[in-house]
Amino acid sequence: MAVHEARLGIIGAGYVGLTTAAGLAALGHHVTCCDRDTDRIAAIRDGQLPIFEPGLQALVDRQMRAGRLAFTTDPGEAGSGQTVVFLAVGTPALPSGAPDLSALEAAVSEVAAHLDPGALVVIKSTVPVGTAARVTRILTARTPGGRPPRVVSNPEFLREGSAIHDFFTPDRIVIGARERAAGRQLRDLYESLAAPVLVTDWATAELIKYAANAFLAAKISLINELADLCAVLGIDVNEVGQGVGMDRRIGPGHLQAGIGYGGSCFPKDLAALQWMFREAGLPALLLPAVQQVNARRPQRMTDFLARRLGGLHQATLGVLGLSFKGNTDDLRASPSLAVVRRLAEAGARIQVYDPVARVQGETLARVTVCDNPYQACRDADALLVLADWEEFRTLDFARIKTLMRRPLVVDGRNFLDVWHLRGLGFEYQGMGRGDHQPPEVSS
Ligand code: NAD
Ligand code: UGA
Repeated sequence: MAVHEARLGIIGAGYVGLTTAAGLAALGHHVTCCDRDTDRIAAIRDGQLPIFEPGLQALVDRQMRAGRLAFTTDPGEAGSGQTVVFLAVGTPALPSGAPDLSALEAAVSEVAAHLDPGALVVIKSTVPVGTAARVTRILTARTPGGRPPRVVSNPEFLREGSAIHDFFTPDRIVIGARERAAGRQLRDLYESLAAPVLVTDWATAELIKYAANAFLAAKISLINELADLCAVLGIDVNEVGQGVGMDRRIGPGHLQAGIGYGGSCFPKDLAALQWMFREAGLPALLLPAVQQVNARRPQRMTDFLARRLGGLHQATLGVLGLSFKGNTDDLRASPSLAVVRRLAEAGARIQVYDPVARVQGETLARVTVCDNPYQACRDADALLVLADWEEFRTLDFARIKTLMRRPLVVDGRNFLDVWHLRGLGFEYQGMGRGDHQPPEVSS
């Protein structure tokens, strides 16, 4: 039970809004979560979360049953009577790279009239430097003569697929505030989470969010560039990543080479950061390179396959994993989809299986969606593993070998057991995993 039990509103019931709503309710607060998407709210109320996030359905159910979590489409309900209102709506990229703040501004305008005097408005969405100031101006204009709500920046660092774990055990909580009291009020909400808290001003908190994603994306692009060198030199990039990551200054995370990063955040946040550099009149040299390395990853895989199979026209390919990584249904900017589209354009027939992500038949030409991984492997000239779902590691590969026309496995995430597969007689191709023999085991 939270020591400072509060009444909270959350605008936006997506990956961040839902996780934050259920998490804060579990900390003992009373939460009303609002989304303008009526189907989404109806589904949630019916016990059917519109997104797949491990453990989230059970957490939402528990908090709803406990009477601490409610859902609405009415911004008035999420705004009035709440001490704190969180904004967790999407901020996708505009063609210029700038984040589209229209949903955020709409949410602020819709909720403004209902806010209690002195309420705290917390920006959880990822927003460019200057947004907290902008939201304050909107709120002030809508509270003529009154006391405008105070605004706090509180960027979110959770990952899809482990959102609940990340909510309850964050590496840090960043709070950007103009007044100490506002920062303290937000800090109190999270007090039962044993996480370090960094309090900064608005702009710093806003930039920390983009800087963190840029660092993570840069690590991935660097290991991916090294993977190409490893491929030529016959070295396993996984071992290089392991050795590098043991240096505590570098750390082991985000050093997995493969078909590159995707998702709803890294691509758009890197674009937004470069836009901020342009707006500041500064050149950004490293960030475009990070993106360029990443953009070439799907092609690295399709080029290899075309060479190995002597062309892709009429090849039958089994594909496992469509989402932008394992453990999520999110297809936004998925590199797996980029690979599949390239292969289909080159004339391959594709049989795809994903544990949860669903594509409409007409979305992808020449693609058959399969009910299970074994169906996807039938008569295939190669099996491509494109998302790191844990269950793909433990498939019955002996059975898969009997189903395929040709025993070729291409591991786009470098996460399968190469020695096991080679032991079964597969030709295994990772992305920079070399071809050296298993290390001798001393007796
Ligand atoms: P999402 O697309 O899953 O959900 C956003 C929700 O907001 C949608 O359901 C939409 O209907 C709703 N919405 C939009 N305008 C609204 C309005 N005016 N009133 C009520 N509801 C409204 O988005 P997400 O993935 O949860 O991301 C939200 C924000 O958090 C983004 O800025 C993103 O960059 C950031 N973020 C996302 C993650 C992540 O892992 N997805 C992690 C950290 C930060
Ligand atoms: C990422 C960050 O990790 C979160 O801290 C941040 O809050 C979030 O973006 C956001 O701002 O939305 P997420 O996109 O959910 O979270 O997923 P990650 O696990 O970071 O993976 C992103 C992409 O990089 C995926 O396509 C993944 O397959 C790829 N990746 C990740 C690699 O290619 N190699 C790695 O070592 C790690």
